[in-house]
Amino acid sequence: MCGIVGILGAGPVAGQIVEALKRLEYRGYDSAGIATLESGRLARRRAEGKLKNLELRLLEEPLRGAVGIGHTRWATHGKPTETNAHPHASHRLAVVHNGIIENFRELREELTRKGHAFSTETDSEVVAHLVTDLMDGGLPPHEAVMAALPQLKGAFALAFLFDRQGDLLIGARRGAPLAVGYGEGEMYLGSDALALAPFTDTIAYLEEGDCVVLSRAGAAYHDASGRVVNRAKQKSLASAFMIDKGNYRHFMAKEIHEQAEVVGRTLAHYLDMSEGAVRLPFDVPFDLAGVERLTISACGTAYMAGLTAKYWFERIARVPVDIDVASEFRYREAPMTRGGVTIVVSQSGETADTLASLRYAKQCGQNIVGVVNVATSTMARESDVVALTLAGPEIGVASTKAFTCQLAVLACLALAIGRARGTLARDAERRFVDELIALPGLIAEAMGVEPKIEAVARDLSRVRDVLYLGRGTSYPLALEGALKLKELSYIHAEGYAAGELKHGPIALIDEAMPVIVLAPNDAVFEKTVSNMQEVAARGGRIILIGDGDAAKAASVDVEAVIAMPVVAPTFAPIVYAIPIQLIAYHTAVFMGKDADQPRNLAKSVTVE
Ligand code: M6R
Repeated sequence: MCGIVGILGAGPVAGQIVEALKRLEYRGYDSAGIATLESGRLARRRAEGKLKNLELRLLEEPLRGAVGIGHTRWATHGKPTETNAHPHASHRLAVVHNGIIENFRELREELTRKGHAFSTETDSEVVAHLVTDLMDGGLPPHEAVMAALPQLKGAFALAFLFDRQGDLLIGARRGAPLAVGYGEGEMYLGSDALALAPFTDTIAYLEEGDCVVLSRAGAAYHDASGRVVNRAKQKSLASAFMIDKGNYRHFMAKEIHEQAEVVGRTLAHYLDMSEGAVRLPFDVPFDLAGVERLTISACGTAYMAGLTAKYWFERIARVPVDIDVASEFRYREAPMTRGGVTIVVSQSGETADTLASLRYAKQCGQNIVGVVNVATSTMARESDVVALTLAGPEIGVASTKAFTCQLAVLACLALAIGRARGTLARDAERRFVDELIALPGLIAEAMGVEPKIEAVARDLSRVRDVLYLGRGTSYPLALEGALKLKELSYIHAEGYAAGELKHGPIALIDEAMPVIVLAPNDAVFEKTVSNMQEVAARGGRIILIGDGDAAKAASVDVEAVIAMPVVAPTFAPIVYAIPIQLIAYHTAVFMGKDADQPRNLAKSVTVE
């Protein structure tokens, strides 16, 4: 899950490559590097850490070549040092790689025996030496690349630049995305269309196993068997989205504040607001009325969205739901009935484990519904039904607006299946739709808790551990609150079903550990109050996130109340997501952490 770029330009390309890499930093930011041809010869600049370090290096030692490749890295093999940074090079070529070469050890041993000297700990360097070896044997660049590809095991997207070849770039993909961009006398390669959006909106996507040879005149595509093939150009919408922070200090803050708008936009896509009915914006190639069981698979925050939706599918549509994190599901060999329905949830649509789950379910004959944010992603392409979330590009590594949009789409799917199965009466559908329509306004109102949260976050920034509790749909949100806090602030946090407290975690309660309780005024509110009393009785510090009046009536000794607007309970998580995101964000900012790019993480996890 690195980002790769290649540009055959009309003038110096280093600045354009950096610009494209900025848009790919969400894929990893352990190191960055560029290679260009300077008077026909390969030259590289690389730097450890974020892209800004590479930019400083380029100021000291500029590159002026008109063809080049670039890389931003999420380290898998070898430490995030400058030596391990891409591009990797030989006397013949430079290469950037996204993915994992699984058989790199065998290849490395073989090439070492042939006299190749390796200088990095990476798996990727083997690609440079393998293609070099084939070129040393007399093959021209594109034949050498095509001869190398079948020898590589694993998942990859690759971009090659060749010494003394000023009008040539070669790209290849297997298991990781790669887009080709068409400009005015310029050609581009990029991990996604977003990276290329400043230069072109005319994009073609490589398919599995493809290799592409670029010159400034165009692109020649070859499929896995080497046949010349055509890959359709399409207009990318990526350029329509502004990738800047606006007046916000971080993308994450901007994305939190965009939620009223993007949740509203997503709901408008799925609802007929005047009729008070769900209207799915796609044809469903299977019978919704016949859905007997659902399987949901996803990772991280997307998994929490799926877990929340389990409550909705079971309650509203009366459909039993199996849900598992994708890294477990893909290897669990779960028996699945042909014709059943599996929902995969993913912001990027590229997460390796979720994609593997999708493929497993498909093999079992399931119908696949992909709830994804990137319309051109691999999951979107491989799903039978693409249920898009219209969150727009999410740049902050921590998922915020994609999460609430996933919830919005899943809520609409639950209503649609409920209606089709006859478990949702027309008046109940109208009432639920009204509740959904109210959400953007309630999200905007919930932003009013931010000053209070800043005060809470200042205290949290001094603690070591935090416990989040919730019942019903607030339980997945408790898990999500803990995930958000730990990934951004590095404070240890746990999410628990409030009813589980007495089965173990209550032993942790003391005056040092804040307990954040999510308690909308729903059917289990009183039960949650009892759990708060258990915490209070043991001297625990309670931070209650609840609807103001209900919270007052609860008469529990709490340290702080984050008073939320009154929300109809079913879809309350879509509003209660706001305070948990703000808590994590402000705590990280108080602690001086990088809220957009937390350590060790990457936005798009395209490796296992
Ligand atoms: O792109 P995806 O939605 O498939 O990504 C899944 C997770 O990697 C992602 O949600 C991750 O947990 C985020 N860092 C959470 O903020």
